[in-house]
Amino acid sequence: MKKVYVGMSADLIHPGHLNVIGEAAKLGEVTIGLLTDEAIAGYKRLPYLEYEQRRIIVESIKGVERVVPQATLDYRPNLCRYKPDFVVHGDDWREGVQKQTRQQVIDTLDEWGGLLVEIPYTKGISSTQLNHALKEVGTTPDIRLKRLRRLILSKTTVRIIEAHSGLTGLIVENISIKKDGEIREFDGMWASSLTDSTVKGKPDIEAVDISARLGNINDLLEVTTKPIIFDGDTGGKTEHFVFTVRTLERMGVSAIIIEDKTGLKQNSLFGVDVKQEQESIEQFCNKIEAGKRAQITADFMIIARIESLILKAGMDDALTRAKAYIDSGADAIMIHSKEKTGDEIFEFCRRYNRLERTVPLVAVPTSYDTVYDDELSKHGVKIVIYANQLLRSAYPAMVRTAEEILLNRRAYESRPHLMPIGEILNLIPFNK
Ligand code: SPV
Ligand code: MG
Repeated sequence: MKKVYVGMSADLIHPGHLNVIGEAAKLGEVTIGLLTDEAIAGYKRLPYLEYEQRRIIVESIKGVERVVPQATLDYRPNLCRYKPDFVVHGDDWREGVQKQTRQQVIDTLDEWGGLLVEIPYTKGISSTQLNHALKEVGTTPDIRLKRLRRLILSKTTVRIIEAHSGLTGLIVENISIKKDGEIREFDGMWASSLTDSTVKGKPDIEAVDISARLGNINDLLEVTTKPIIFDGDTGGKTEHFVFTVRTLERMGVSAIIIEDKTGLKQNSLFGVDVKQEQESIEQFCNKIEAGKRAQITADFMIIARIESLILKAGMDDALTRAKAYIDSGADAIMIHSKEKTGDEIFEFCRRYNRLERTVPLVAVPTSYDTVYDDELSKHGVKIVIYANQLLRSAYPAMVRTAEEILLNRRAYESRPHLMPIGEILNLIPFNK
């Protein structure tokens, strides 16, 4: 019996897949190299279904003998391991980003006389349409909640950006660019206390209460499928925090970040220009522990945010706290800085990475915005949060238009900066 190898992601099985598998089975015993979450997330969106779910589905397709993980987009490691006589693939990879992968397959098979067999691409199935259909499928609180942990496990950098309304949620959900053969998207949303407060015309001092903040979350949940990280400020009183954890978890929010401050919290970017007090390590650890005990699922994350650098308490204090918070059960550490360069953050990272036990690291490059996300990731940062940029770009545009209309006594002059009426009417389709 000849050995046949077929690589696929199989997030949404369609007749094209069945055709390829059917043709492969005519040639011999079919092994499916099922791309892992990590292999897929390296070049496009994390699949809807988890690896295990996809494995069970593919394993039950007629003609499939076995399913093995393919951990990279590159076929070569698996080909060298299984030495198939044939690799079967659709003929739609001759051009474009997969061209090089295809050539590598041909060259590797050649080493033992194996052959690439290409099946004519099944027409009439558009992956764009299928992707659209996937979004229509929507999500459940459980699937959304788990997605952040899946992203952490499968991506080098998890990119999160602030969303403060249904509309900004849609931007985060749908904006996608192609760069260097990779489809780049934001992985999830940050429910920022700064922007949630600012859109309500209030200062960022926990004056917008949890119920109002949850209203914003609900707007995001209605129109998106991506995971949400909630900015929990100080987390409030420990006795209240446990309820917040359970509520967020029930809604399908993936994580809450709480900062180690006490008393009247002010925005970190004020630094020591205003009076802000850091919480004692002991009290903050108690809060983390109480939160961890309160959550129902294993997947919800409580992320501890260290304000030592913001409040000039020093690097040693930041590291002592990181260690203590991890020991108390924090699922990740956020380190904040308001320096103009990344030096302080990088020094923290270097020392943090030497700790005996670490958890994923989160950074918020607002003031040090010259730093690229891959530089942060090289220093060990896993989650990068762009905490306020959507609101900061919208406000100046609105102010300019308001001033222009007053100046000109009509809106005509502002037209070039405005979205055409036809576009705004169709931006949110009715009966989608
Ligand atoms: C927020 O976005 O509300 C944050 C980050 O907590 S910062 O504004 O830098 O404090
Ligand atoms: Mg905040």
